[in-house]
Amino acid sequence: MDETSPLVSPLQESIDYSLSEANNLRTPGSVVRVSAGSPGRSRERQPLLDRDRGNSPRDPHRNDFPDDPEFREIVRKAEQAIEEDIFPERIFQGSSGSYFVKDSQGKAIGVFKPKNEEPYGQLNPKWTKWLQKLCCPCCFGRDCLVLNQGYLSEAGASLVDKKLELNIVPRTKVVYLASDSFNYSAIDRVKSRGKRLALEKVPKVGQRFHRIGLPPKVGSFQLFVEGYKDADYWLRRFEAEPLPENTNRQLQLQFERLVVLDYIIRNTDRGNDNWLLKYDCPMDMEGNRVSRPKTFQHWVMVKEPVIRLAAIDNGLAFPIKHPDSWRAYPFYWAWLSQAKVPFSQEIKNLVLPKLMDPNFIKDLEEDLYELFKKDPGFDRGQFHKQIAVMRGQILNLTQALKDNKTPLHLVQMPPVIVETARAPQRANTESYTQSFQSRRPFFTWW
Ligand SMILES: Nc1ncnc2c1ncn2[C@@H]1O[C@H](COP(=O)(O)OP(=O)(O)OP(=O)(O)O)[C@@H](O)[C@H]1O
Ligand SMILES: [Mg+2]
Repeated sequence: MDETSPLVSPLQESIDYSLSEANNLRTPGSVVRVSAGSPGRSRERQPLLDRDRGNSPRDPHRNDFPDDPEFREIVRKAEQAIEEDIFPERIFQGSSGSYFVKDSQGKAIGVFKPKNEEPYGQLNPKWTKWLQKLCCPCCFGRDCLVLNQGYLSEAGASLVDKKLELNIVPRTKVVYLASDSFNYSAIDRVKSRGKRLALEKVPKVGQRFHRIGLPPKVGSFQLFVEGYKDADYWLRRFEAEPLPENTNRQLQLQFERLVVLDYIIRNTDRGNDNWLLKYDCPMDMEGNRVSRPKTFQHWVMVKEPVIRLAAIDNGLAFPIKHPDSWRAYPFYWAWLSQAKVPFSQEIKNLVLPKLMDPNFIKDLEEDLYELFKKDPGFDRGQFHKQIAVMRGQILNLTQALKDNKTPLHLVQMPPVIVETARAPQRANTESYTQSFQSRRPFFTWW
């Protein structure tokens, strides 16, 4: 692998074992090596750093998404609305500064979470987190996560979702927005007001300012999904009024996609309020929603009942290590009845070929690197650890899918990390070091 590659571990020592297939090696501490002639090599030779080098210098805060004009258009609508004083609105129930972003008609089109208003960001409008930092620094934050990079985790989850074609995360990207409704420091507000005044009074001086308004905030922008409700709400409803068989199957398939996503990114915050469901029930003759199968013959089927899942709030994922025993951050979906059903053939067909392809994994890691390196606090060592956890999760998931396990079995597997290390003598070879967590910290009570 290239010397400059971000994916070469700072770890220099690796135990040298012979070549083997990564997914077959399950012995703690054993090493899996990928040969110099492996299919991943051609891609490895491509420069990994600064893929966009050579572009002309441009406004670093411009929201440009050449590969996604639809997303660009939605962000443009949001910018336009802000110019027309239709400001993003704070989501009050959240533990940090999150905002519903609107279009010029006041319709919600996105959810924006600025980096500096995250739970542990400097400008988090919720003072309880600030108090926690002050009074109880040892319990501050989740020590398995990179602090204050939730917006990248949100965008990273969307990236993983897209690459695996899961289609459950509303598209999320890193965006810059400025709005009067965001939480700014008094200094920023005074500066902005001063500049405006100067522009009005002495236009010649004012024109020399680089920027007049409030400074744009970097954050995650997730597309707003309409007509969805917390999974908690619907799951309770479905307990009382069971779904028709076909719809139930749809729910199961969507649920499996959530499991795959959460497990790979090792989401530490997947309560049943952090995924949404949309259930389009069939209608009766009066146009009322009907969901009881026994009245089925009396329905006028306006449309097939459709169930869709949206995985939102992915800001607390991509940990640098597996959670420890006293703060396990379980996946709350593991308690649901759906988690006791073996993975379907559909999900295996969708993800197994990708997860077993070394090129796919390498590509995924490189894309995550391109995304995560944007943060001013980016740390290559930490990134390696995040990737090592993700590789371990992928290894377990692949095994579970091959072995026809259930999601519940999956979460009971001992956590693994897979680190890359360059063999000292042969600079062109790359090896993976697998290590297993010695304890089985969570889900042992099942
Ligand atoms: N993409 C979306 N589309 C529609 N509604 C959304 C979307 N994202 C979030 N919401 C709504 O906003 C609420 C809060 O969102 P979210 O959980 O992402 O924010 P948060 O600030 O991280 O909150 P918390 O810290 O309490 O989890 C959700 O419960 C959901 O109702
Ligand atoms: Mg939430």
